[in-house]
Amino acid sequence: MSAIWPDDSEHIEKAATRLRQGGLVAVPTETVYGLAADAANGQAVASIYDTKGRPSFNPLIAHVRDKTEAARLGVLYEQAERLIEAFWPGPLTLVVPKVPNAPVSELVTAGLETIALRSPAHPVARQLLAQFGHPFVAPSANRSGRISPTHAAHVRAEFDDIPVLDGGACQLGLESTILGLSTDQPTLLRPGTLTIDEITKTTGVEITRPSGSAIQAPGMMSSHYAPHAAVRLQADHARPGEVLLGFGGTDGATLDLSPEGDLKEAAAHLFDYLRQLDAMNAPIAIAPIPEHGLGVAINDRLRRAAAPRD
Ligand code: TXA
Ligand code: MG
Repeated sequence: MSAIWPDDSEHIEKAATRLRQGGLVAVPTETVYGLAADAANGQAVASIYDTKGRPSFNPLIAHVRDKTEAARLGVLYEQAERLIEAFWPGPLTLVVPKVPNAPVSELVTAGLETIALRSPAHPVARQLLAQFGHPFVAPSANRSGRISPTHAAHVRAEFDDIPVLDGGACQLGLESTILGLSTDQPTLLRPGTLTIDEITKTTGVEITRPSGSAIQAPGMMSSHYAPHAAVRLQADHARPGEVLLGFGGTDGATLDLSPEGDLKEAAAHLFDYLRQLDAMNAPIAIAPIPEHGLGVAINDRLRRAAAPRD
């Protein structure tokens, strides 16, 4: 039943029907493609863990239409409300205390008392939320630990029996920024498309960055986003036999994330180019990326792509 579906209203309705029946469907978002299931259906959520090979301690993000729907699942204090007003719909996920008896399967939160909430901006994801009428969970539509998908064909290559609504290339290309808001002090759980500086500048909410390499979100394992090939970072040239991922016009690059040195463009290309290089079956060397703005999230993904895989 493998298929890439056009993103017209007929197929979005078909996708909503699949969700109602407890099935899975892949959906484009502005960050990466997600693998969606009805958040209230325990069996459907269980099949997400099973299909991705995802450890059961790693909770999922509930995708919601808006603040009203979010407030049925999570407790939104003043700072959460301010962040929602400023950045939803968009690439910002908030981890907040879960409402007692929230209408979601226990598996969604992996037994935690907090829940992750995000309202995606991509029109196809929004139409699916509206047609379905309930929240769906949607982890990135890749096998656990592998590279996130930014094109329908990437999803198809990993899961050939799940329909994919084809919304084209994801505009941002890197996952949402995740903030923890269950205590007084908002913390950064996962760097993402939206930078901390932008969040503070727009809302006045100060975010604490975690110190050292402490794992914050349970899913932030050190090895993640991994190509099959070995990865070497901070490379200024390719060694014999390597392919080279450049940035800002690196000499001899096999592919360049952004010849002009634009971090936004680099983020949008990152996962697609990693997949293309991985298909060349050679070790991958990667040029340095500046550690500011979007570069923080790009380097986070690259360090995990290069981490030992035990
Ligand atoms: O951009 C995105 O966020 C994409 C698109 C599809 O929306 N989704 C995504 O989901 O990246 P996933 O499952 O690949 O990553 C979710 C992350 C995991 O690292 C997980 O541990 C963390 O969110 N998370 C979920 N619930 C949490 C909670 N209650 N507390 C802390 N971390 C949580
Ligand atoms: Mg993921």
